[in-house]
Order: sequence, then C-alpha cells, then structure tokens
Amino acid sequence: MIQSLTLRRPDDMHLHLRDGAMLSAVAPETARDFARAIIMPNLVPPVVTAAQAAAYRNRILAALPGGSDFQPLMTLYLTEETAPADVAAAAASGLVQAVKLYPAGATTNSHSGVTHIDRVMPVLETMAEIGLPLCCHGEVTTAEVDIFDREAVFIDTVLDPLRRRLPGLRVVMEHITTEEGVAYAATGGADLAATITTHHLIINRNHILVGGIRPHYYCLPVAKREKHRLALRRAATSGNPAYFLGTDSAPHVDALKEHACGCAGCFTATNTMPLLAHVFEQEGALPQLEAFTSLHGARFYRLPLNSGTITLEKTAAPVDFPEKIQTGQGPVTLFNPGFPVHWRVAG
Ligand code: NCD
Ligand code: ZN
Repeated sequence: MIQSLTLRRPDDMHLHLRDGAMLSAVAPETARDFARAIIMPNLVPPVVTAAQAAAYRNRILAALPGGSDFQPLMTLYLTEETAPADVAAAAASGLVQAVKLYPAGATTNSHSGVTHIDRVMPVLETMAEIGLPLCCHGEVTTAEVDIFDREAVFIDTVLDPLRRRLPGLRVVMEHITTEEGVAYAATGGADLAATITTHHLIINRNHILVGGIRPHYYCLPVAKREKHRLALRRAATSGNPAYFLGTDSAPHVDALKEHACGCAGCFTATNTMPLLAHVFEQEGALPQLEAFTSLHGARFYRLPLNSGTITLEKTAAPVDFPEKIQTGQGPVTLFNPGFPVHWRVAG
C-alpha cells in the first residue's frame, strides 16, 4: 500500500478567492498547497477590464502570507460590452490566461453575463485567433430546462454549435458534472478540456437532499445522480489530458448558505489535496493524481510545469480538519466529505 506520495506542486484551474476580508482569509488556504490558480472574475462588480484584473491581482498578492510564491492567473468576465482589443491586449501582456463565459443568470454574480452567444462573437473570434481559452460555465438558463439537464442541454445547444462555428476556439468546460460532459470533453483534442471539482468526485444529489437539506453541499452545477459521479471519477483518474483539477472552491459565509435562499458553492480549498488522495486511492489510481492536479492543466494553458513538490502522507488516525474557517465577514464551513480522511499534506 502506498503510504506517501510526492507530486509536482499542483495548480487549481478554477478558484473563487472573492475580495476584501474574505480574500484575506481564503487566499492562504489555497496558497498553502497550490503553486498557481486560475482566478474566477465573478466579483461584485465583475472583473471585466484588463485594468480591473491587474488591480485584483495586486489585491490577491497582498493577501498572501509573507514568503508565498503563489501565482494568481487572471481571467476576464465576458460581457456583451467586452472589447476584443482589450482582451487581446490583456492576453498579449501576459496578465490574463482566459476569459470566462457565464450565461446570464446561471450562477453567483452572473447577471452581467451573456444572454446570447451571437452578441460576443467578435470577442470569441479574436480569442480563437490568439489562442486564448474560453472558460465556460456550461449550463443553459432557460426556465423550462430542468436544472439536472442544464449541462447536457448546454453542450448540445450552445457549446457544440459554437465549436463548429469557430473551430479554432480553445475551450475549458468548467466543473463538469455529467457523463455527457465527460464524453464531450474527450472529443476536442488539444483545444478542448474540462475541469473537475473535488466535491463532484465525492457527492451525488442524494448527499444534498436525503435526510434533510444540506446547504453546504449545494453548488452549481448541482451534483447529479450516482452514475455521473462515477463517470467523473473514471475521467479524473484516467490519465486522459482532457481532464484536470479545478476545485471551484467557492466560499460563502454560513449566514448566506444556511438561508431560505442559500448561495451555491462548496469551500474545498483547505482539504482538497487530502480528499483527492483519498478518492484516487479508492480508485486504485494514486499514480495518476499528479497528472490530474499538476500536469494536464498546465499543459492545456501552455504554462511551464511547476518546479517544487508537495508530499502527501497516509496517517494512522483520521485527520482533524477544521469544521469552519473564520473570516472578517463571518465563518465559512469547510466541505465535509462525510468520511474519515487519512491523508495529509506533509510539506
Ligand atoms: C460559484 C460562486 O459562488 O461564485 N458557485 C458555485 O456553486 N460553483 C460560481 C460558479 O462557479 O458557478
Ligand atoms: Zn466557479
């Protein structure tokens, strides 16, 4: 049995760090284990321009513990007013690694997002020319489409037609949750990939709804049936470069999660690497963990691989993760997998 595993330092290719007091509390949680992260732009107001991304990057760097070499990789929030020239300049300067598409109304702070893909085609054409990836929140928002079908319908009615119309566009399907997402992500060669979160490898929709409603398991896209969780596990552990880690760690204070209209998001920054070691061990795939967390994402984004390492160690006693972390805005509950975890990051 493997007792210790040394990996190239991992990257989190989908992360919400928020701003202000929340940023100060959560940035160190990611910087402890990860070398880099793709930072989501859904602040209030959203990070729309290169100037806003540069200012946000400076606030993130200021929130890191002294001596940290964590690198935030910035994204722009795509709106119907986004100027192709601003995107091209932000990419050319090296500031921005991707642009994020939120269908308007799909998730937290997405009201400035896109109502119809036709309205952003000039930006997408520029991105295809320069090879800048589009990160897609892949859910339709049509009221008639059932929430459990929204990812599959997005692939058929938005993503596949877009990729046929603009074959040069590089796309990351963010936080896939279905076997349809797993299958589609494998069809696009080097220009198509998908991130998979930690929590979607662990929970299915029963965890949210059976025996009482569990607001800390509610996120978007919402966890689906068990067969989809199993498809995600097969994908993450497959060694296929189309899949890599994007935790979608999305902190919200408890007061807004435990609410009549609770916010979507699971906070997994603190315990992601131990949880992934647990999952990959269960799947008999610990040797594939490094590819998922540290190689495939960097290669897709055409970034150098990280140089340092982290070591995961098997522990005799279950690891005592904190139930909550304290922030200047209130407590945030850490994702609880519901089983004992016997892995820790040793250094
Ligand atoms: C994210 C958030 O809170 O910003 N929430 C979530 O449930 N994943 C937004 C997102 O990625 O959809
Ligand atoms: Zn997200």
